[in-house]
Amino acid sequence: MYNDSWLKSFFNSGFYEKYWGWELEKEDPAQIAESVLKLLDAESGHILDWCGGWGRISLHFAKRGFKVSILDFTPEYLYRARESFKQNGLALDTIFADCRETPPHIQADYAVCLFNSLGFMDDKEQVKALVSLNQALKPGARVVMDVMNLLFLAPDIKRPFEAKRPDGCISRQTNSFDFITNTMHSYFEIIDDWGNVRDRKEFYQRLYTPADLKALLEAAGFKVDNIFGGFNKEKITFDTPKLVIVARK
Ligand SMILES: C[S@@+](CC[C@H](N)C(=O)[O-])C[C@H]1O[C@@H](n2cnc3c(N)ncnc32)[C@H](O)[C@@H]1O
Repeated sequence: MYNDSWLKSFFNSGFYEKYWGWELEKEDPAQIAESVLKLLDAESGHILDWCGGWGRISLHFAKRGFKVSILDFTPEYLYRARESFKQNGLALDTIFADCRETPPHIQADYAVCLFNSLGFMDDKEQVKALVSLNQALKPGARVVMDVMNLLFLAPDIKRPFEAKRPDGCISRQTNSFDFITNTMHSYFEIIDDWGNVRDRKEFYQRLYTPADLKALLEAAGFKVDNIFGGFNKEKITFDTPKLVIVARK
């Protein structure tokens, strides 16, 4: 199951670059940033990109004039974030920390936690992390978070998923599911033309229904304003892959 050494080595292993880099390139980060700012109802101020990685989305908040801080525990991602903000002539505050220990002095006006960055720990630890986020925000601060919708994924979890990659190899994901904790356990593999497994990563993530996500944020002291099926306020259905929650301190 989850443990801290798996968590750190997983994110240090270059998983996103190897397995999801080409999927991420299909998204338009500037467009997502615009939609998130609308959800936050934000015109100016300080945004904390919590578990923000290399600042894929928050770079565009900074381009719009927001002060941005990125908290993450993967040094390589924070280094990349600093380089890309610098290349764009933008200021950035990076916070190298575990999200369970978000420094309370940050006192941001807004926070985001994007691209399925919840659920890498059990609920007790996740609530602890969200409580520390809550304490690092100003009273009334709005937050936007997105995760995968368990109700959308459920029918296909047990089927192996394969996709052809741009490098010609096959990317395969094989899952099992723990019904007591709603945790998906996956093996991600890259398989070449000769059937050799070139790379293999083990992955755990707690998946949420809308009700689970609401309860999680409320347990950490947030007030939930809305849950949508996408960044453009889509209605949640069994067919919307994402859950986007808007809450406030
Ligand atoms: C799925 S990536 C998303 C990155 C970014 N939010 C984005 O939209 O591109 C998850 C991020 O969470 C970070 N992370 C995971 N667990 C963490 C923890 N316990 N403390 C701090 N950062 C963590 C990882 O290093 C990684 O950058």
